[in-house]
Amino acid sequence: MATLRVNVDGLDFPNPFVIGSGPPSTNAKIMCKAFAAGWGGVVAKTTALTDTEVVNVQPRYGKLKLDKTTVGFENIELISDATFEDWERWYRETKDAYPDRILIGSIMESFDKGRWQELAGRCIEAGCDALELNFSCPHGHPEKGMGAAMGQDPERVETVTRWVVEAAGGAPVWSKMTPNITDITVPAAAAQRGGAQGVAAINTILSCVGINPRTLKPMPTVQGHSTYGGYSYTAVKPIALRMVSEIARALPGFSISGIGGVTTSWDAAEFIMLGANTVQSCTGPMLHGFGMVTELQEGLLAVMEKHGFDTIEDMRGHAIPALTTHHHLVELQQEARARKEEKKRFRDKEWGEKDIKDAAAKLVSD
Ligand SMILES: Cc1cc2nc3c(=O)[nH]c(=O)nc-3n(C[C@H](O)[C@H](O)[C@H](O)COP(=O)(O)O)c2cc1C
Repeated sequence: MATLRVNVDGLDFPNPFVIGSGPPSTNAKIMCKAFAAGWGGVVAKTTALTDTEVVNVQPRYGKLKLDKTTVGFENIELISDATFEDWERWYRETKDAYPDRILIGSIMESFDKGRWQELAGRCIEAGCDALELNFSCPHGHPEKGMGAAMGQDPERVETVTRWVVEAAGGAPVWSKMTPNITDITVPAAAAQRGGAQGVAAINTILSCVGINPRTLKPMPTVQGHSTYGGYSYTAVKPIALRMVSEIARALPGFSISGIGGVTTSWDAAEFIMLGANTVQSCTGPMLHGFGMVTELQEGLLAVMEKHGFDTIEDMRGHAIPALTTHHHLVELQQEARARKEEKKRFRDKEWGEKDIKDAAAKLVSD
């Protein structure tokens, strides 16, 4: 009998489905709603120490639609605008209400050891089971070297991860990777050297979602202007799958929380078969509601049972050995063709196996 229960870095998840950091985890009330619906874990909305100024704009989202269906989603939302003291209360309330679920604090700071260590220590003290380090917000606070600006610098990823691991008192640490980089395995390896138990991948892809056909301004439009934002949802899934599998191939055994465009159980199965041991979704619940976790659970169990996987760990990475280089694909195809040709070749020992006239006909030129 297949089970969705999975132990990742000592964290006992009742199922591998985790809310990705963002609006569906932006205070205690909404995190509790996610747990009530059945999500196994929640990564809280990213927070910094209270003196980091966070001023959001409105509107801050944009959709890419094909006919009437949304396929891509862009946001220019910043990290949480609540105080860190609010967050300490919210972590406690959420963990007290759902002690059997996994609560992961998401933190982001400037390149300052004291600030990262203070945040990490206070999150754990307030009840977080683990920490996710936001090295990946593509649009917020780059002027302070925060988010993706830090995630694009492997030395900083390693150093900051080490600071946080030191302060986390043994709680697992996942570094969240930016996809806005040529080779995602470089910062992932840096996080591993820094002592992280795993990575979360991917955050959003820097984008311009389109032009408003009426105003002719880029969207989302604020006072006639816009800025590049983070792209998510279905359209990014192929890129996220590629990056998750690249990390899994480069760093076997390292935990990976796969994110990017998950809305169905099959999407989740794909992430797991390409190396993830938990799967996050953020835009999915924003557009479909927390109830989508019912299909995620039932559908994933059905896939596991159909293909004979008893556990997530059995299923994890199943498709990876089938990934290779284009050069190798050409070789494999040439070998297969040669084997087919070889089968077609007529040999003397075949005389007498069939009617002599059919054998002779096979050797006559057209
Ligand atoms: C509106 C919005 C806000 C987000 N805020 C955060 C955040 O505060 N911290 C973070 O690490 N990721 C944040 N993300 C990124 C998501 O956690 C996730 O990595 C990304 O959206 C890809 O997954 P998805 O396609 O399931 O949304 C945000 C995404 C959206 C759409």
